[in-house]
Amino acid sequence: MTDYYIAPSILSGNFGKFTEEAIRLEAAGADWLHIDIMDGHFVDNLTFGAGVVGAMRPYSKLFFDCHLMVENPENYVTAFAEAGADSMSIHVEATSHIHGALQKIRAAGMKASVVINPGTPVSAIEPVLTLVDMVLVMTVNPGFGGQSFLTECLEKVSDLAMFRKLRNLNFDIEVDGGITDETIALAKQAGANAFVAGSFTFSGEPAEQIRKLKAQL
Ligand code: DX5
Ligand code: ZN
Repeated sequence: MTDYYIAPSILSGNFGKFTEEAIRLEAAGADWLHIDIMDGHFVDNLTFGAGVVGAMRPYSKLFFDCHLMVENPENYVTAFAEAGADSMSIHVEATSHIHGALQKIRAAGMKASVVINPGTPVSAIEPVLTLVDMVLVMTVNPGFGGQSFLTECLEKVSDLAMFRKLRNLNFDIEVDGGITDETIALAKQAGANAFVAGSFTFSGEPAEQIRKLKAQL
């Protein structure tokens, strides 16, 4: 049986109240907490670093699903492990050393996940699919919440699901960007099992919004 995970993104929450938001999302039925780290270089936006993740950690039992939109993410593996991150998702476009970086994440005791932007083909990550616990397929261009879902990215989700079956691999497939109670069904149908939702979660009462998402799974 497939496990499905709803991962609300704290990016759409109140930046003055990270800990309260984490507590609220856990009570609202979130399975994971999606934490977007942006460096102002890899994407045109800045958020926060491992310090904020570590500050939230004592207040939440949620799985911390950390999405690093930063250049050379391998430089931050130790910091995120020490902050209590459960997984690190790193972009194949952001490092010359994706293989070593993923190994480093696992060696630090976290789940390793590789991310592809909308313009990046699945072939770019095929050599590392034996090394990952998850593949994150971006369904918007990274950097900002509230963008529209790019349906064309779903073909990559189904290709990955097929590749996983053919090679007898065992990674989760997450989608991130533009997930609503409509697009989640399309992503599930293509083969995704983890769903990030930022603006949708916060566009109403999070518990009700999460319930609407779960109803589609
Ligand atoms: C965008 C981030 C997403 C963002 C998604 O670069 O990676 O996680 O929070 O937001 P929505 O769900 O509003 O598209
Ligand atoms: Zn994200």
